[in-house]
Amino acid sequence: MDIADFVAGLPKCELHLHLEGTLEPDLKLALAARNGIDIGQTTVEQVRETYRFDSLASFLAVYYPAMDVLVTEQDFYDLAYAYLTRAAAQNVRYAEVFFDPQVHVGRGVPFESVVRGYHRALQDAERGLGVAGALIMCIVRDLPADSAMATLEAALPYKDLILGLGLDSDERGNPPAKFAEVFSRGRAEGLRLTMHCDIDQQNTTEHIRQALEDIGVERLDHGTNMVENPRLVEIVRQRGLGLTCCPISNRFVTGDTKAPVIAALLRDGIRVTVNSDDPAYFGGYVAENLVTLALAADLTQAELVQLERNAFDVAWLPDDRRAGYLAELDAYAAQAGA
Ligand code: HPA
Ligand code: ZN
Repeated sequence: MDIADFVAGLPKCELHLHLEGTLEPDLKLALAARNGIDIGQTTVEQVRETYRFDSLASFLAVYYPAMDVLVTEQDFYDLAYAYLTRAAAQNVRYAEVFFDPQVHVGRGVPFESVVRGYHRALQDAERGLGVAGALIMCIVRDLPADSAMATLEAALPYKDLILGLGLDSDERGNPPAKFAEVFSRGRAEGLRLTMHCDIDQQNTTEHIRQALEDIGVERLDHGTNMVENPRLVEIVRQRGLGLTCCPISNRFVTGDTKAPVIAALLRDGIRVTVNSDDPAYFGGYVAENLVTLALAADLTQAELVQLERNAFDVAWLPDDRRAGYLAELDAYAAQAGA
């Protein structure tokens, strides 16, 4: 079977997807019109022209201003539902998705509009599209630690709608340790913990060490620079932690998919997963990321199945639901002879 066909049918689990990173140009234009906002472009091609970057910092400089078109609860709903529609079409069965409330609250949008819009979309998608999901609230790491704590406190009344706490945005000079208190409070409040350790960042192995040893995260988002210190790889292996890799995103922000290191970690028994990050900006959802990695690293069908097994294994799912998804995956693999 052709690799793209095999990937298309594979039951998938998405663990590294920023909802704000799914803002496709057509939806951006529609939301701008609905909210009477002049974004300076009037066609999809013109918007796409602005989606140009070659580093994490230059990406974020385009990414945050684009969010101005998100104003009402319905806008957040529409953004998430549009993503979930695409995900369902790629046979994503379950998705744990990031969102960045500080960026919206900082523009005067009520926290409640953001979380209720996203949550309602997840509920409707589970019923109407057959894709289930959960929210991971990310702390924007280049904002001060007291803003992060205030955001966590603002989220507590909606704790039942939020599964996890993450850390994203510009890593330079913003180590995990800056947010030790916030993550410790998050854990005490029952949130699951993950953090971005972006690719090829300054002090990357120290940041990964802090995330693993000082914070005690349950997953690492990106995190492949851990290979620079074998002790970190051993910690990840012993704890069975997941790594949420995003090859197409890597190519945009570093010029390299990092396929060899991702594949080497997978073949070394680390729970590597493949995900989309900011697909509207990087031009590939999870299926395209899987195909990109498969072609670059010559993955077998069994290895593609293993990537999804890893994702369902490290997802923050109740055991009965996890078992259901794994059974679907096994049935697919058996029928394809993978
Ligand atoms: N890294 C850091 N911040 C982000 C990312 C990322 O991959 N995507 C959206 N915000
Ligand atoms: Zn990310």
